[in-house]
Amino acid sequence: MNMLKLDIAASGVALTDETKARTQAANALLHSGEGAGNDFLGWVHLPSSIDEEQLAAIEAAAAKLRAKADLIVCIGIGGSYLGAKAVLEAMSDPFKLLRKEQSAPTVVFAGQNISEDYIYELLDASKEHSLAAIVISKSGTTTEPAIAFRLIKAELEKRYGKQEAAERIVAVTDKARGALKTLATNEGYPTFVIPDDVGGRFSVLTPVGLLPLAAAGVDIRSLVRGAQEMETATAAEVPFDENPSAIYAAVRNELYARGKKIEILGSYEPRLQYVNEWWKQLYGESEGKEGKGIFPASVTLTADLHSMGQYIQEGERTLFETIVSVARSAHEVRIEADADNLDGLNFMAGKRISEVNRMAELGVRLAHVDGGVPNIRIELPTIDARSVGALLYFFEKACGISGYLLGVNPFDQPGVEAYKKNMFALLDKPGYEKESEAIKARL
Ligand code: PA5
Repeated sequence: MNMLKLDIAASGVALTDETKARTQAANALLHSGEGAGNDFLGWVHLPSSIDEEQLAAIEAAAAKLRAKADLIVCIGIGGSYLGAKAVLEAMSDPFKLLRKEQSAPTVVFAGQNISEDYIYELLDASKEHSLAAIVISKSGTTTEPAIAFRLIKAELEKRYGKQEAAERIVAVTDKARGALKTLATNEGYPTFVIPDDVGGRFSVLTPVGLLPLAAAGVDIRSLVRGAQEMETATAAEVPFDENPSAIYAAVRNELYARGKKIEILGSYEPRLQYVNEWWKQLYGESEGKEGKGIFPASVTLTADLHSMGQYIQEGERTLFETIVSVARSAHEVRIEADADNLDGLNFMAGKRISEVNRMAELGVRLAHVDGGVPNIRIELPTIDARSVGALLYFFEKACGISGYLLGVNPFDQPGVEAYKKNMFALLDKPGYEKESEAIKARL
């Protein structure tokens, strides 16, 4: 079955042979490893290189945590958070917590903010549960997860003692460097390695994403299979017209060249909301540099038609949108007839909710295109691990191609360091004395 269909008919872009050739060359550059940022191309063949041994080790570690705890706190930020969060939300029943029978441990996230109330409430609520933790940081030195982990580790040690706590913690980090690696070695935590050549935002198919997902009971083998299929479908030798990632990358760059500076990723399925967040990091960090890059924004529909809809329809004409559409719902609900028909909805009686959603999507697309907002449509057959795996790799591959078309190094993120220097200076971190003095003089 086709995992993903791309429709660019409503984008208003007719790609020239020259653009197609440039895009093919950008894809070839990813595969030859001769382009900018070529130290970080491990993700290109990641799906096909994950072997049985790696999957089995991840599943075994996840099973151990699942056996010990009914609450697993997954600690990380940015690329060490968003991939797992995106897939977990996509795979989860949003009302799981209302169900009396809980089939799997609950995985919650921490370390993606520095909110005192968030961590307090998490620690407080965790008291009602048996607890375990997965701590993820490639650098091993990121402040937000380090703070959260310090607190969760202390809670685990207080409850279970140091030895048992170490049985309830798994670290995912660099193979040799960083404070987390040192800590994991000293404390004897089981550890998974984040490959050197895979950057944070491209790491969802490493243990960074796979371990928390397996711990939550997600079928990671299907996720990887979907990504493998997309790896094949977007390989360098695939002709341009058959490569969805190449087509998407070419069209969005063409729109950017025409002044469409903002891309809105939207979906009519709320479960995909965090796929939007993951995508925003992927594209924002990869392309937003050197004064260039499409600004990645997102909406969840139809909810945001009642907030952002006005701007999209009639605001500044710098937008285009990419809609992730889902062909088949997992469940069937029909609108019932009502004898009084006071809400006037009897004309929909007997229709499935998904049909109404589809007509909303179609109506919105036509209205937005009429209003000057080009539309790209990506259709998934359904939301399951395999199609989500395909979607993730589709976006990653398109991002690499797109960054090369834009002329930037899509695999670095020099801009994310600026705030850290200020924060450390404001907090009087040793070694930052000069910066502290300078920044405090500005206040
Ligand atoms: O994509 C990236 O590289 C970043 O978003 C990182 O993932 C994020 O800063 C977290 O870094 P680390 O995994 O080193 O804690």
